[in-house]
Amino acid sequence: MLPSYEKLLAAIVLLTATQSANGQNLTSAIGPCQAGPCWVQSEYDVSPPVYPSPNATGIGWSAAFEQAANFVSQLTAEEKAQLVTGTPGPCVGNIGPIYRLGFKGLCLQDGPLAIREADYASVFPAGVSVAASWDKTLARQRGVDMAMEFKGKGADVALGPVAGPLGRSAYGGRNWEGFSPDPYLTGELFATTIEGMQSTGLQACAKHYIGNEQETQRNPTGGLPTVISAGGGPVIEAVSSNIDDRTMHELYLWPFQNAVKSGVASVMCSYNRINGTYGCQNSKTLNGLLKEELGFQGYVMSDWLATHSGYLAATSGEDMDMPGGIGFFSDNPSFFGGNITAAVNNGSLTEDRLDDMCRRIMSPYFLLQQGDASYPAVDPSSGDLNFFPASTYHYNFTYNTQANVDVRDDHSQLIRELGAAGSVLLKNTNNALPLKTPANVGIFGNDAGEPTDGLYFDGDGDLLNVGYEFGVLPVGGGSGTGRFTYVVSPLEAIKTKVYSYNPKALVQYILNNTLIAGPGGYFGVGAIIHPTPPDVCLVFVKTWATEGYDRSSLLVDWDGTQVVESVASLCPNTIVVTHSSGINVMPWADNPNVTAIIAAHYPGEQVGNSLVDLLWGDVNPSGKLPYTIAYKQDDYNFAPIENSSALLTTTDPNAWQSNFENRLLIDYRHFDFFNESVQYEFGYGLSYTTFSMSSLSIAPSTASGSISALPPSNPTEPGGNPALWETLYTATLTITNTGSVAGAAVPQLYLGLPQPVDEDFTPVKVLRGFEKIMLQAGESQTVTFDLTRRDISYWDRFTQQWTIGTSAIGVMAGFSSREIWLTTSCSPLEGSSGSASSASAGYGSATALASGMMSSAMASGSSMISASMPAASSMVSSAMMSGSSMMSASMLPSASMMPSASMSAAGMMPSSASAAPPAGCSDVPGPWQWSGNWGPPHGPPAAGGPPAARS
Ligand code: BGC
Repeated sequence: MLPSYEKLLAAIVLLTATQSANGQNLTSAIGPCQAGPCWVQSEYDVSPPVYPSPNATGIGWSAAFEQAANFVSQLTAEEKAQLVTGTPGPCVGNIGPIYRLGFKGLCLQDGPLAIREADYASVFPAGVSVAASWDKTLARQRGVDMAMEFKGKGADVALGPVAGPLGRSAYGGRNWEGFSPDPYLTGELFATTIEGMQSTGLQACAKHYIGNEQETQRNPTGGLPTVISAGGGPVIEAVSSNIDDRTMHELYLWPFQNAVKSGVASVMCSYNRINGTYGCQNSKTLNGLLKEELGFQGYVMSDWLATHSGYLAATSGEDMDMPGGIGFFSDNPSFFGGNITAAVNNGSLTEDRLDDMCRRIMSPYFLLQQGDASYPAVDPSSGDLNFFPASTYHYNFTYNTQANVDVRDDHSQLIRELGAAGSVLLKNTNNALPLKTPANVGIFGNDAGEPTDGLYFDGDGDLLNVGYEFGVLPVGGGSGTGRFTYVVSPLEAIKTKVYSYNPKALVQYILNNTLIAGPGGYFGVGAIIHPTPPDVCLVFVKTWATEGYDRSSLLVDWDGTQVVESVASLCPNTIVVTHSSGINVMPWADNPNVTAIIAAHYPGEQVGNSLVDLLWGDVNPSGKLPYTIAYKQDDYNFAPIENSSALLTTTDPNAWQSNFENRLLIDYRHFDFFNESVQYEFGYGLSYTTFSMSSLSIAPSTASGSISALPPSNPTEPGGNPALWETLYTATLTITNTGSVAGAAVPQLYLGLPQPVDEDFTPVKVLRGFEKIMLQAGESQTVTFDLTRRDISYWDRFTQQWTIGTSAIGVMAGFSSREIWLTTSCSPLEGSSGSASSASAGYGSATALASGMMSSAMASGSSMISASMPAASSMVSSAMMSGSSMMSASMLPSASMMPSASMSAAGMMPSSASAAPPAGCSDVPGPWQWSGNWGPPHGPPAAGGPPAARS
């Protein structure tokens, strides 16, 4: 059979590849075989072709699609070209009107946390803050509130939210625009944001698709883009993100699949290349993955100047060229525009494809009734704030009769609440927080006060984007920023709070980091702060990040490390607050004088109030880390930003290759797999109360024994095969607030999926469920997690299907990725035969893997081959993309690196559900329990009781 043949072929190729890698030390976090089959560079030179571009059929929005088809049937060729090509106008992106058919055109506005080019608008918490809230309800409401502001200003399309970058590298300059390096957490919040936004009638744009994981060399340099040489040397192509097929599906594509399932109107293709081919002319990622496999019915717009060809991009799946021209400020010349009509006329582009592009663009417009008279027209102030001079406009756009419309409504309330919810309490020694009524408060650091460079944090190229020295940093820079109407600084909010309970209290401050980090002298007799030490020293440090640049350090900026150490050396009650794009290493975290730490992320305009609510306990902290804080910067070397002095001076056009060799092992997946201690793990965050967890049980939703390894074949719908979204299991557990104050817990469900043979190394655990639950003191609540077929499957590059593995799935519930309270297991393909022994033979056991590999390869290979196998051509394509190779036993991690059952055997884990397990599931803890070097205070619960004390 062909599939077997394909497997054999792959095996031969890969066997060759692995031979050179035998003997590699897999305990090393860096190397060509660190995370699965050895890397074969030639497999990533060219992204496989997938043609033709699938026509939208309107599934999911058929009435709107019919309207779109009717509209498009009346267009001239020139009007069709106009509809697919941006043009100068009052918005960041503009599609010209076709008034004879009642079409007002489209206004596209940045960005993911606010309508950027607008006055009288709010600036919301950034994506990273939403991720740290782990709160789907707030995420959705933020989507609604933001969208009302876009719509109120006359925008039709918001250029957000962001799931690319996902956050592969801790240094990624735009990670904060998106959510989390965990695809499940991102997928849930991405989708709820989109649903919230589109519920108002605004179109969302899921960006940047795909593999846009670094800013460095995100675009071609040298010459002119697309001109072979323009005097200054050859064009050096943009970085190529080289991603194997399984990693693509399980990490980077995952959240976009959620977005498509949620009916997102548009997707923005990215600047970078993917496996050698530019994102906006990559037929594999656009035609193959997005439109064919995920069944996307909307339109693909280019990122700004990311189009590098005309009919080639169009046939590869790009539907709209933004901002329209080859240059930024004019739509002429353009790869699209007149060249689209020319391409149709000369036969390079079919009219059918052009019509599909137009229908895709118009379907969401009709679905969301954006042509209705009640839909607000563009605020005239938009044009004044935008980059196109009015003199360059070719069309008469329709404007609102009122300018400077105030769209802020009461959104400051949600912003304040979400700003607090997205702040993570990392340390709290001896109940340093919440504060009581300190009468002598010291405030330190350049992140505490009023911004001094204005309220628009766009980033300053002249400063090489080091950020802004003085003033609080509420958001990052670039197109993902927002124009503030006000910022409540921490200093202002703290003064207001302190004087409210003690008008005579002291609030003393030094905001100059150079002074604080320098030789002492600000404490003590005759010094700046007196009397000393203050009752509490609040230190504010920050980390700038912006589009166009990756971060060069994971430490806090502006000598912030020295600032903390300097204050802590004199003040035994030092509380540190970071305003940051995401991951910071904190060499001062274990300093005993640092009594509390809050990672407050980028909370938006209410930054000071959100923080004061937490500091004084008006709000109980409930944020959890959406990433891992390791001990040292070097700990993140497994996923570097591709850069070097050699690359910066290269004359090789194809030199920039970013190999995602770490495959599935990013963030906690990496640290868990290699059993590395971390400072604060993914999912971690403290509260002013305590919680316990009990009674984990899991039940199959379908009759026992009826679960097939492969999803039944179905016609594709938005989101892919609908069978992937069916709930196959439901897990329930009970959580209790065991403390004395009300608070919100975030119970988290992780799965340990089986390690397939010949495959990328399967992570020890992956997040597959979370909820934010508010509980009064003493209150308990049952929490339910639905597990879909996709949730319990891995992407099999041979069958090109989401596939349920043949052995046990570990089910772990806890309050962080390393605070697992309860475990159980299920064997979906074994009916009611699930047992401890079948669990032990499953994933994560090096011995089982090594010995059973070849035989189960044969077994799984044959059992996975079904009538639903894809055609040979797409198999070949995906094999080319997958970077597939054989994994030999000698490449497997050593047993000591893998989870062991010793912890459960030693009785270190609390027992799970006492009720009889459901068919196919076992209540005996499986081998996924980690016996590594977690150590207190971040270890799992002590035997039979609550977790080790954490402070
Ligand atoms: C960014 C996009 C943004 C666009 C328009 C690009 O540089 O990558 O995220 O939407 O500009 O401002």
